[in-house]
Amino acid sequence: MTAATTLTEASRRLASRGVDEPGLNAQWLLADAMGVERLRLLAEPDLPVPPAALEKFEKHLLLKEQGLPLAYITGWQDFRGIRLKVDARVLVPRPETEELAGFAADFLKTRPEPLSALDYGAGSGAIGLCLATEFPGLRLTALEKSPEALACARENALALDLAGRCEFIEADTLAASGPKFDLIAANPPYIPSSVIPGLSPEVLSEPYVALDGGGDGLDVARMLVRMAPARLKKGGALVMELGGSQPPCLLASMSAEVWAEKRTFKDLNGVQRFLYGRIHG
Ligand SMILES: C[S@@+](CC[C@H](N)C(=O)[O-])C[C@H]1O[C@@H](n2cnc3c(N)ncnc32)[C@H](O)[C@@H]1O
Repeated sequence: MTAATTLTEASRRLASRGVDEPGLNAQWLLADAMGVERLRLLAEPDLPVPPAALEKFEKHLLLKEQGLPLAYITGWQDFRGIRLKVDARVLVPRPETEELAGFAADFLKTRPEPLSALDYGAGSGAIGLCLATEFPGLRLTALEKSPEALACARENALALDLAGRCEFIEADTLAASGPKFDLIAANPPYIPSSVIPGLSPEVLSEPYVALDGGGDGLDVARMLVRMAPARLKKGGALVMELGGSQPPCLLASMSAEVWAEKRTFKDLNGVQRFLYGRIHG
C-alpha cells in the first residue's frame, strides 16, 4: 500500500461515517502512524506504508469513525508553537484559543517585569504554558476545578521544562485574596447546559465540566468578571474566550470605576468571541 492509496480509501471511509474533514483527518492519522510529517504524505504519494504503521493506522481510523477527537487518538495537540499532551481528561485546545493567547502575549509585552499570569480553568495548560514559554521570566499559576485536568496541565509543564515557574491550584472559584497577577486569562466553560445534549459526539467525548457554563453559559465568566479586579495588579487585565455573541453580555457589568478599558473583539472567523478588560493603573 502507498500513502496515496491508503489515504484515498481512509478518506472515503471517514466521509461515509459523516466525519468532518475526512481527508485531513486521514492525513494526520497516517502521518502519526508512520511517524512522518503530514505534508510528506502529499509530497511523496508513492511512499510505502510499512505493515506496523498500517496496523496502527487501522486501529486509529476505527476510533475516528466512532467520533473520537483526533487529538485524543494521537495523544497530542500543537498549540501556538508548543506540543501538548492531550487526552480525555481535558478539552482539546482550539485554534480560537491560540488567538486569545496571542492577544494575552501582546498585553504582557506592555507590562514591566517580573510578570505573573493566572490561567483560570487551565485544562491541558494550553494558554498558560505557551505564555510561560514565550516569556522566560513569567510566573504562571494554573487553576483548575478538575483534578484530572490539573494533573494533565502539570504533566505538560514538566514535559516542557516549565514546572519550576508554575504553581498548580485545584479550585472552583477565584478567591478574593491571594497573589495579584498582571494577567488573568480564561477560556471558561461557556456552553448553556440545555445546549449540551445536542452537541456532536466528538464534542460530547470531551469532559462535561469543560463545556457546561450553566443556564446561560456564563456562570464562570460572570464570576471572573466580578472577582478578577481584586486579583489583578494595577493596570492588569482579564482576557476571556466565550461563545459567539456572549462577550457583549458581560460588558454592561464592568463599571468604569473599576475598569479603565473594556471591549470585546472578534476571532478570525468574525465571531464576537473575546472579552478584554484592564483595571485602572
Ligand atoms: C473550555 S475548557 C478550557 C481548557 C483550556 N484552558 C483550553 O483553553 O484549552 C474549561 C476548563 O475550565 C475548567 N473549569 C470548569 N469549571 C471551573 C470552575 N468553576 N473553576 C475552575 N475551573 C473550571 C474545566 O475543567 C476545563 O478544564
